[in-house]
Amino acid sequence: MIRALQAEGLLDPARKIVAGPEVTIPVRARGDLAALAQRVGARLVPDAEAPAREGRVAPRERVVALLRGRLEDRLLAQVPDKWEQHGDVLVLRMPDALLPAGREVAQAFAEVLGLKTVLHDPAGVAGELREMRAVPLLGDDPVALHVENGVRYRFDASRIMFSSGNLAERMRVAALPVEGETIVDMFAGIGYFTLPLAVHARPARIHALEKNPLSHRYLVENVALNGVAHVVEPWLGDNREFPREGIADRVLMGYFPRTQDFLPKALALLNPPGGTLHYHNTAHAESWKEEMEGQVRAACSAAGGTCEVADARVVKTHSPGVVHAVVEVRVKAGGSGGAAP
Ligand SMILES: C[S@@+](CC[C@H](N)C(=O)[O-])C[C@H]1O[C@@H](n2cnc3c(N)ncnc32)[C@H](O)[C@@H]1O
Repeated sequence: MIRALQAEGLLDPARKIVAGPEVTIPVRARGDLAALAQRVGARLVPDAEAPAREGRVAPRERVVALLRGRLEDRLLAQVPDKWEQHGDVLVLRMPDALLPAGREVAQAFAEVLGLKTVLHDPAGVAGELREMRAVPLLGDDPVALHVENGVRYRFDASRIMFSSGNLAERMRVAALPVEGETIVDMFAGIGYFTLPLAVHARPARIHALEKNPLSHRYLVENVALNGVAHVVEPWLGDNREFPREGIADRVLMGYFPRTQDFLPKALALLNPPGGTLHYHNTAHAESWKEEMEGQVRAACSAAGGTCEVADARVVKTHSPGVVHAVVEVRVKAGGSGGAAP
């Protein structure tokens, strides 16, 4: 949580974190704090007691201090205040004006954060397979080891995304009551949800489906790295072509946009009596719940089943007016021949 807040530039480094029955984490005031707190299940306390921390300076301020005198002030103002850190690999977007001094700026980040590699990601993730093309500013090894909640994720951070914004959702999944279940993760990536489930939640089996060959390669590696090869079966290909159906107690659909296109296969993957779907999508901030429930009900109805929404929450803000949300749905196959009202 602290690392995710820090990456967003939200942690207030000038005040101490206070541990107790609850943990108080001082944050900087920002417009979207209430939504963030709701998402991660935190309480926002306007005047919480968090004493000043003497002599501590935020990482970005330390980077700027190292560069002062070497770069003009107008350039210093453009030093990024957001990044993704995965172990000793940093991914950031360097503004064009700073690129000629990119190596020097990267060196300063490396000194402050203890990094082996700094990558410049000009365009972000793109397309169905979530591909990236980040280029090294410093170091030549882009393979990162991200350790989170007792799970180890190894991946090439110049080619594969890892979203700190989905941290709360990964933590939630790790705590699901899935003991003995058969689960299909339709969009497994490098194991974002599969690994915390396999490591912490004791399912009987997880079929982890992934279409991008590079992500699949790291998925296989991460399954071994975390000692869960007896539980997880990785499969390479388009999940709609996965040859098995009628096998799952639970199906994870951690992908967007147009996740509704994958609902017929997700429903077919569930056991004949039914099961649970974790349906992600992007939708309008003011009507996401109705939109996404409508999509699931329409698909259940078309498949001749019924469904009941057990839980629904926003994972993160996607873009202005659009959220990434997840709806948890209990599906019953056959029976009444139509969706519940
Ligand atoms: C957005 S990533 C998952 C992100 C993740 N939930 C997180 O926490 O960061 C979705 C993955 O689905 C894969 N994918 C997309 N379409 C697919 C398909 N039809 N079949 C299997 N995998 C697919 C992509 O390659 C990508 O690795």
